[in-house]
Amino acid sequence: MSSDNHPSIVETPPVRAQASQHWRDEEDTARLAQALAAAPALRDAFIALHGDLGAGKTTFVRHLLRALGVTGRIKSPTYAVVEPHQGREGQAIFHFDFYRFNDPREWEDAGFRDIFAGAGLKLAEWPANARGQLPVPDLSITIDAMSDDTRHVTLQAHSDSGVRLLQAAA
Ligand SMILES: Nc1ncnc2c1ncn2[C@@H]1O[C@H](COP(=O)(O)OP(=O)(O)OP(=O)(O)O)[C@@H](O)[C@H]1O
Ligand SMILES: [Mg+2]
Repeated sequence: MSSDNHPSIVETPPVRAQASQHWRDEEDTARLAQALAAAPALRDAFIALHGDLGAGKTTFVRHLLRALGVTGRIKSPTYAVVEPHQGREGQAIFHFDFYRFNDPREWEDAGFRDIFAGAGLKLAEWPANARGQLPVPDLSITIDAMSDDTRHVTLQAHSDSGVRLLQAAA
């Protein structure tokens, strides 16, 4: 719900540039992941991932982590809220899933504020559940399932680095 503490800019940040994609199958999901992984602007970016249950947010994150050189088993952060990873150049990557996030105190206690203020890539599923705490993302990706394998995907840039990511994704 909107309130005085939640200015509308947090819920619908201004869109600097927008693009859409059609994914025929997971190969196209991987293609976007690889294109973004090659962009220098990704290193310290914050990407918000929108979409219904099963849309493909975690699947996209897994492809992105692999493209960044993360090896081994990639756990889903659902219970821990955040899973930290390291890319092949030692860069920090934080995968958040706010699906079960409902205690704003956890934001401070778990050090999420510091993570978002610091270096590294931040990826967040279900960002609306932490909208009072989260900063404006550089890039929002919205995934809509059209069939078993096909997805309609909207990318929205909200910052300079978001615009650079959008260019890399094209
Ligand atoms: N083009 C595609 N892109 C992404 N996932 C796809 C695609 N086609 C099929 N899938 C399948 O859809 C499912 C997506 O599940 P995933 O866990 O990634 O969704 P999610 O958006 O993270 O859901 P949740 O909100 O529950 O976290 C996976 O089983 C994946 O293999
Ligand atoms: Mg998920």
